[in-house]
Amino acid sequence: WVLMVTAQTPTNIAVIKYWGKRDENLILPINDSISVTLDPQHLCTTTSVAVSPAFTHDRMWLNGKEISLSGGRYQNCLRELRARASDVEDEEKGIKIAKKDWEKLHVHIASYNNFPTAAGLASSAAGFACLVFSLAKLMNVKEDHSKLSAIARQGSGSACRSLYGGFVKWIMGKEENGSDSIAVQLADEKHWGDLVIIIAVVCSRQKETSSTSGMRETVETSMLIEHRAKEVVPRRIIQMEEAIKDHDFPSFSRLACSDSNQFHAVCLDTSPPIFYMNDTSHRIISCIEKWNRFEGTPQVAYTFDAGPNAVLIAHNRNAAKLLLQRLLFYFPPQSDTDLSSYVIGDKSI
Ligand code: DP6
Repeated sequence: WVLMVTAQTPTNIAVIKYWGKRDENLILPINDSISVTLDPQHLCTTTSVAVSPAFTHDRMWLNGKEISLSGGRYQNCLRELRARASDVEDEEKGIKIAKKDWEKLHVHIASYNNFPTAAGLASSAAGFACLVFSLAKLMNVKEDHSKLSAIARQGSGSACRSLYGGFVKWIMGKEENGSDSIAVQLADEKHWGDLVIIIAVVCSRQKETSSTSGMRETVETSMLIEHRAKEVVPRRIIQMEEAIKDHDFPSFSRLACSDSNQFHAVCLDTSPPIFYMNDTSHRIISCIEKWNRFEGTPQVAYTFDAGPNAVLIAHNRNAAKLLLQRLLFYFPPQSDTDLSSYVIGDKSI
């Protein structure tokens, strides 16, 4: 027999960024972060997990290609889930798995991203969140989302925020064992329904410096990172929570843009410096800054993760329409710029 579960998890985009760890193995961050989870149908991972007595070892396929599960991150997630597994019974199929059997049974995992992997579009976030969520269902793990977020965190830090929709905060926590480093939902997906997210795919190639090694080098060499983590982010977290609660777009935009720029500034302050954005990214920033200044009140916020692609958050549908017109005018597809395509949050715009 084979028992299978399939789940789908959207990616999330940080508006106050996580960058830097205080514990590499448990993945514990040096500051809180806040993100917005995208609509599940756009950028998401779909994962099917299966268990069978015929499986001889744990195996995983990512976008159809087998990958190794020997890394510490996968092993940590699998160990945490197996330790919390419960009895499973499927009467129709006549399957009975006792709690203790999970230590001996092996799983097969097949995961697909509907967007470029490792191009700075937070694919590991959706990937590990989906892996943990689907395995937890298969193994009948009776933990709430916050506990599951702490397990997903051990796969990839940003993954813990994808267990919830809407606006999510990852609390860095203080405990050495990481038990209080969990994600909580600040507001659900209906709270600020006017916002429209547009992703301008500047380049879908894999990034040169992974987030994991990039943030390690920043913590080791940047003089600015401590100031950011201890002084700047704690203030911004409070202000961002207020802005979200009050639907205050000018504050939201100011904080998100400044935080993205500061994150890239600490990357530049790393030795050797890390360049995630390219000329097209910089031109997009100038274009949005000029437009926001011209309007007097911000219409669009921008944020860039560990790659050149722009995540643009428009105040409402009208601002999103105007934004798209501007993008198409300044960065026509197939032109000499390498802004190759647009992933549009809402196809009706
Ligand atoms: C720039 O979560 O990919 O997207 O914990 O090492 O797997 P690891 O890193 P990862 O880092 C994400 C960094 C970021 C900012 C963010 O999502 O908060």
